[in-house]
Amino acid sequence: MSIDTATGAEAPAELSSTRVKDIFSHIAKKYERFNAVSSFGAYKVWLARMAHLAPIGPNDDVLDIAGGTGDVTFTMARMLHPRHIQCTDLVPEMLDVARMHYERGAAHGVPVDFEVVDGQNMPYANESYDAITMAYGIRNMPERERALAEILRVLKPGGHLVCLEFSTPPNPAWRTLYLFYLKHLIPFWGNVVTGDREGFVYLSKSIRAFPNQRELAHMMEQAGFVNVTWKNCTGGIAAIHVAQKPA
Ligand SMILES: C[S@@+](CC[C@H](N)C(=O)[O-])C[C@H]1O[C@@H](n2cnc3c(N)ncnc32)[C@H](O)[C@@H]1O
Repeated sequence: MSIDTATGAEAPAELSSTRVKDIFSHIAKKYERFNAVSSFGAYKVWLARMAHLAPIGPNDDVLDIAGGTGDVTFTMARMLHPRHIQCTDLVPEMLDVARMHYERGAAHGVPVDFEVVDGQNMPYANESYDAITMAYGIRNMPERERALAEILRVLKPGGHLVCLEFSTPPNPAWRTLYLFYLKHLIPFWGNVVTGDREGFVYLSKSIRAFPNQRELAHMMEQAGFVNVTWKNCTGGIAAIHVAQKPA
């Protein structure tokens, strides 16, 4: 099934894919500044948490899906020193920024290759990666079951998916405050920092339409993953799911 990622309603995949390419090709150069401003710096803390939870070692070959400007790739490189990282994204302009950071030494000596790849249809062989990372990727994908099936296919048996995504705060008071921020202030900040209000109206809607922690875990289990766990970040504004391909 394919959905409109802004609403969760059934829709042709092209609708969301075209929109996401349009948004990220325009904001690529301002994307990192927006993250820093809108999350009050929490974004970096969540990335470090992701690395702490990632079962990635020095001999591992890692695939980063929806890698964007490379924040996850470079955090994993700096903190975990895997053997190699394949940093992929649907939008070439986002990877151009990542490549620029790489050339300036952001990977701390870990070899990284960059490739334009749709996470829902990957050009990699079965069982080719020890671990897969994905931050803020699956929410933007209209064919989520297909993406999870692809991730399972290219992971080696026993390998892990580590997925950071916006989620739903379980505490009602915190959730109300956060939803107000999301609905009214995110489009405002997005407009101030990038000049693209529409892109941030989309961001806000897609977060509100996205499955909560338990529902995402269930989707992963339905796709065939086992040992699915999650940790909340900042009271559930985001969550890090770790899921394993059966050994
Ligand atoms: C919010 S950014 C996250 C980038 C990066 N992971 C980070 O943490 O900064 C979302 C990224 O998902 C990418 N994306 C959206 N749909 C995709 C797809 N089907 N396959 C691969 N990447 C996709 C976008 O191009 C964009 O770079």
